[in-house]
Formats: sequence, structure tokens, C-alpha cells
Amino acid sequence: MLFWISAVVFAVVVGLIAFAMRRARRDVTPDIEQGDPRWGDRFIAIAGVLLPVLILLGSFIYSLGQMNALATGDEEAALEIEVIGHNWWWEVRYPNGAVTANEIVIPAGERILLKLSADDVLHSFWVPRLQAKMDNIPGRVNEMWIESYEPGRFRGQCAEFCGLQHARMAFFVEALAPDDFVAWYDNEAAAAATTADDRGLDVFLSSTCLGCHAVRGTEADAEAGPDLTHLAARETLFAGTLENTRENLERVILDPQSIKPGVGMPPTELSDDELEALLDYLESLS
Ligand code: CUA
Repeated sequence: MLFWISAVVFAVVVGLIAFAMRRARRDVTPDIEQGDPRWGDRFIAIAGVLLPVLILLGSFIYSLGQMNALATGDEEAALEIEVIGHNWWWEVRYPNGAVTANEIVIPAGERILLKLSADDVLHSFWVPRLQAKMDNIPGRVNEMWIESYEPGRFRGQCAEFCGLQHARMAFFVEALAPDDFVAWYDNEAAAAATTADDRGLDVFLSSTCLGCHAVRGTEADAEAGPDLTHLAARETLFAGTLENTRENLERVILDPQSIKPGVGMPPTELSDDELEALLDYLESLS
């Protein structure tokens, strides 16, 4: 609708400019016959003021209705997901108990209701290919609808300056085919399953990891940092900052401040042997 209104206005304006240019070229002779100036005044008042006001006002009222429909939606949500902004990562909680971070997995072709809030300061949830921006505000829940018509991966970014590592507060929305989603969803809610030996879990439970992270099914249940129950299934570390590889995981554990200065995670001191066991453990959490 807005496109066609703009197209008509554009065509009329270009037509008038062409008309004026033709006249100007014809009338360069000094003995121009002046038209009635009152007609010119009236033309400016109507075409230059009244018509634009009516067109803009009409478009504005029409847009308000459309924005409302986009914001509230008229269908039942297939799924409600809580997305909580933290300095500087995203906590993602599902109704079946699944908890993840920085990767929001949804079924393609379904209307998903996001409940946006924040834990510390203002953040803003923005996935340009799926929806407009909306703020995550501490103490308040904002609702946003998203839908991906096809399976795909869409990058998102915090869009409200929230401190030192605002730029490294990315996330992804991953839309899966419905069957793939069901498999992911059930697995994500389940407790951690590991193929690594107990040594890695012992290191995890006896180090500083325990103070901030949860691995469901173990005694680690802190919520200050991302839930690591299915860490190995995620594609990035530190909110889109690094690819989730063994080498990068090692950097994050040993020296997080060099990657994301100011981040709440302290460096962890481990012997080589402990580090390898811990990496084996974390890499098995899929
Ligand atoms: Cu969170 Cu910027």
C-alpha cells in the first residue's frame, strides 16, 4: 500500500517537474507574460500543503493499524520462549524446561511468541531478517512475534548500548524443520549425557565453573552464566564471538578477559591434565 502511494506521488512530482522544465525552456524570452499570481498561491496551498498532509496522515493511520497487527498477532502462539538479556549474553528458556544461550531454536513455519526481559541493564533484541527491534528491559516483559517460513539460521545482535562488550552480544535464531525441532527440543530438555569419563566432571565440579554455570543432571545449578547442559551442540561461544571449537573453548576457559575484556567470567587455573579432561567433558555435552 505504502509503495503504491509513494509511486503515485513520485510520478506526479516528476511529471510536474518535466512540465515546468518544458515551460521554462519555452519562456526564456524577456517578455514573459505573467499568469495570475493568486492561482499560483492557491496551487502551492493545495498541492504543496493540503495534499501532502492528507496523504501522510492517511499513511500514518494505515501504518498504525498494520504495526498493531504485527506486534500482537492474531494467532495462538505455537511456542512461548523467554529471552533474557544479560551483560553480555542471552539466556533462552523454553516451557519444557530446556535452557540454552545465544542460540534460539524454533520450528520453521510456526508463529513463536518471545517474552523479552533483561537481568541487569537495557538490551535490545534485533534479528533484522525476522522482526523489528524490541528492547529488553529489566523488570518488564515485552512480547514479540517471530516466524521463519523456511528452515534457516538468522543472525541477531543486541541493538542497545549495554556496556563494554555490547558489540560482542550477538545471537542466532535457528529455524528447524518441524521434525528436527521436536528432536532438538526433547534432547535440549533432557539432563546432560556424556561419553567422557568422570574425571572431566570432577574437574568441572571442583573448579570455579560451578559458581556460575549449570549442567542439568549434575549438582552444578548456578544461573549467573550460560547453561552448559548441551554446550557442544551450540555453534558459537561467548555470544557469537568465537566458533565453538576445542581450541576456542580452551581460550575461553583459561583467559576469557583477553577475548571479551570486562566479561563476568574469571580465568580458570588448571593443570594440562585437568584442562584436557574438562575439554573432553564439555565437548561431549551434545
Ligand atoms: Cu546488550 Cu548491547
